Amino acid sequence: MAYEVKGVVARSKGAPVTIETIIVPDPGPGEAVVDVQACGVCHTDLHYREGGINDEFPFLLGHEAAGTVSAVGEGVTNVAVGDYVILNWRAVCGQCRACLKGQLQYCFNTHNATQKMTLEDGTELSPALGIGAFVEKTLVHSGQCTKVDPAAPATAAGLLGCGVMAGVGAAMNTGAVQRGESVAVFGCGGVGDAAIAGAKLAGASTIIAVDIDDRKLEWARKFGATHTVNSKDTDAVEAIKGHTGGFGVDVAIDAVGHPAVFEQAFYARDLAGRVVLVGVPTPEMTIELPLIEVFGRGGAVKSSWYGDCLPSRDFPMLIDLYLQGRFDLDAFVSETIGLGDVEQAFEKMHKGEVLRSVVVFEK
Ligand SMILES: NC(=O)c1ccc[n+]([C@@H]2O[C@H](COP(=O)([O-])OP(=O)(O)OC[C@H]3O[C@@H](n4cnc5c(N)ncnc54)[C@H](O)[C@@H]3O)[C@@H](O)[C@H]2O)c1
Ligand SMILES: [Zn+2]
Ligand SMILES: [Zn+2]
Repeated sequence: MAYEVKGVVARSKGAPVTIETIIVPDPGPGEAVVDVQACGVCHTDLHYREGGINDEFPFLLGHEAAGTVSAVGEGVTNVAVGDYVILNWRAVCGQCRACLKGQLQYCFNTHNATQKMTLEDGTELSPALGIGAFVEKTLVHSGQCTKVDPAAPATAAGLLGCGVMAGVGAAMNTGAVQRGESVAVFGCGGVGDAAIAGAKLAGASTIIAVDIDDRKLEWARKFGATHTVNSKDTDAVEAIKGHTGGFGVDVAIDAVGHPAVFEQAFYARDLAGRVVLVGVPTPEMTIELPLIEVFGRGGAVKSSWYGDCLPSRDFPMLIDLYLQGRFDLDAFVSETIGLGDVEQAFEKMHKGEVLRSVVVFEK
């Protein structure tokens, strides 16, 4: 028997999101239905709504969520009804060429539910990042459920499902920040502040936050920024060199995903430094760089999907750090909202008024 629940849908490019009745099928083989308890509003949801990811409208938005497994399909062994889980968008297949090389964090064939959730008229929905969690119940592949300690509230835990994990991992995994290194983070939203927190956890001694909004820079300090630069009125590259003995940083992280910002990150690093792109560009964005600079500076230019995380390894670890008071997930939660408030949350995000608005579901 399918479930009828309420969810947030982007029907067409740029149109305000609407609340719709969603039909969620019973879980088939390998699938699970999860009662969503909380789901953060990530900038990627807005990218979907703007048509910046692809044109497969209508989208069921939301993908940064935690909840309780309420039904499992045939053959599911990793989770059971009642388990408290964070949803992930990297359910590794174990069989693709990346997995076979032992590089599960790059899995090229991640699992999603096989069946489709639909609108009442049968229109198939594209769930954001293969999840779709601004909805009371969602259907996912069981591998997308990562069990964590239920002592962590869903408002905090869910954030690990996307933006916070992407930021922390951009610093710790992709950028491989080491003790005593210097790091610059461009864009201090949820993802950038998580990169700052990740750099701090990794032991970076200089952490420079760059944003065009002073309020964001103030918040960035709370996550561990040792210096801040407002790049609206200051040359960010020069300022960063000024804070690093004239050399630039060991690791420069672009958490915006804009060519001008990427260029700043590229030039703000020291010789042999690493540039990490974790912000998501739109398809029409291009960048031109002197090839001699790419060669001559050495180091690495990397992109960071999901912070190169392995949910099974990283989610429980970060929840443990949270519960021990060593990683403040609550600090990312600016407000809790209802399902009907997602459109306003996009506006607040756009105006820079929030780090994360988190939809909570009444039970
Ligand atoms: N790679 C991944 O796996 C992954 C995961 C989640 C989100 N993302 C992406 O990361 C990016 C950030 O997401 P978010 O949720 O933190 O967004 P956000 O809107 O909360 O934060 C973006 C921040 O960038 C700042 N900014 C904008 N233009 C800037 C500029 N020119 N220079 C410096 N700062 C500037 C804004 O003031 C804001 O503080 C988005 O592109 C999002 O799609 C990537
Ligand atoms: Zn794989
Ligand atoms: Zn996201």
